[in-house]
Amino acid sequence: MNAKGTAKLQVKDVAVRFPLGRGIVTALAGLSFSIAQGEFCAVVGPSGCGKSTLLRLIAGLAQPAEGSVDIHSDGSEKPLQSMVFQGNSVFPWMTVLQNAAYGLEMRGVSQPDREDVAERLLIQVGLGEFLNAYPSQLSEGMRQRVAIIRAFAVDPEVLLMDEPFGALDEQTRIILQDELLKIWEATGKTVVFVTHSIDEAMIVADRILVLSARPGTIKADIRVPFPRPRSVETVRSNTEFNQLFLHIWSLLRDDAASAVGAAR
Ligand SMILES: Nc1ncnc2c1ncn2[C@@H]1O[C@H](COP(=O)(O)OP(=O)(O)OP(=O)(O)O)[C@@H](O)[C@H]1O
Ligand SMILES: [Mg+2]
Repeated sequence: MNAKGTAKLQVKDVAVRFPLGRGIVTALAGLSFSIAQGEFCAVVGPSGCGKSTLLRLIAGLAQPAEGSVDIHSDGSEKPLQSMVFQGNSVFPWMTVLQNAAYGLEMRGVSQPDREDVAERLLIQVGLGEFLNAYPSQLSEGMRQRVAIIRAFAVDPEVLLMDEPFGALDEQTRIILQDELLKIWEATGKTVVFVTHSIDEAMIVADRILVLSARPGTIKADIRVPFPRPRSVETVRSNTEFNQLFLHIWSLLRDDAASAVGAAR
């Protein structure tokens, strides 16, 4: 809850259905939770349980069949949300700087102002020498950094991230997790972060929502006890790390197995 005791994000009794052939698929059902101002919340759940659908709802890109999604604005001009999509989401025809400044451009910020903000953030994640490079001249990890900076640059009320590191190799993933921790700890954004990785969720988040298999609903709401500031090393060497991992895995195991079985 924020200073006024109001949730920053409130999802209430949400159901989402899609047409499939002559029938319908219920992607999410009876889903309710709220997230406080400045909270970093991860969402884990088996493949196909509705994680991306949930982010699309919060982003206003889809509407619930039932229930409501509310983002509490602080009354400023900030956008309600920005999103880092699953997979590659930078524009190949724009430079790194143009990509990073794109969200600000959409909001009508002048070229010098938006480039100042984007450049500062790009330098922070080690892309200062690549401002005028095109995405095809970057590695996958660098492109994903640009997508993340684009989302942070608009200073949204809520930042949505859909498996932002899902396509990266383990070493790059660890580096980007550490960078994300640093940027987040400096900005205190409210974040909803979807991931397949239990240990990634434990490294970055204050709280983990475990979703059930489709129709996705909340199976557990787990507080992550590791102190901040964090790094990948400090979290992984915490004595409670393995115990918490096993607890979350025990909640996911059966649903994850049936999700794989259903896909065969
Ligand atoms: N636009 C759509 N039209 C029809 N069905 C959809 C649509 N989007 C999602 N679905 C269905 O809703 C369910 C949830 O999909 P969603 O992409 O949200 O899952 P997910 O948890 O993000 O999966 P993954 O972990 O594989 O990314 C799936 O059964 C999917 O087929
Ligand atoms: Mg998804």
